[in-house]
Amino acid sequence: MPAPLIAIYPGSFDPPTNGHLDLIARGSQLVDQLIVAVLENTQKQPLFPVPERVDMLKHVIASYPNVEVDCFQGLLVDYAAQRNARVILRGIRAISDYETELQMAMLNRRMRPDIETIFLMASEQHSFLSSRMVKEIATLGGDVSSFVPEFVWKSLHGKLVGNPCKPPRK
Ligand code: PNS
Repeated sequence: MPAPLIAIYPGSFDPPTNGHLDLIARGSQLVDQLIVAVLENTQKQPLFPVPERVDMLKHVIASYPNVEVDCFQGLLVDYAAQRNARVILRGIRAISDYETELQMAMLNRRMRPDIETIFLMASEQHSFLSSRMVKEIATLGGDVSSFVPEFVWKSLHGKLVGNPCKPPRK
């Protein structure tokens, strides 16, 4: 029997958006097991600490039996190898994503030629979405309820309600 096809979907997920969820839904149909892996990045100042991002993702993937959530530190390819993953899954929204994604895919391939990066084009309705913009809009009191899953919206609301300017509207 061939070994199960395991893919890693890595990212910051600060916070997860409907675009991420769409990629998880579509990606999980292509592989036997999909591991959504949150990078523990000491360089960035996140809105949500890693355990909260993991928790939000666990909620949103609950109905996908072949998807799990994990976090990792260090090189993505080392983590992928450690999890016996042969595929790294990434989404591309616009041409502006392509350059960085190409660079990462090439460098990852140079380090671990046995791990393949596979790209899915973002669905049209999510092609403009980014966690950074969602955070900015929510922080400024804008309505992000159509950009993120309900559970994430509630977490965002909880996080920003103490903001002396404005909590997010719904
Ligand atoms: O959601 P993001 O922030 O676009 O995800 C970026 C991520 C996590 C895929 C990328 O930063 C990454 O793989 N970091 C792990 C460190 C690493 O392997 N760096 C070398 C990449 S060539």
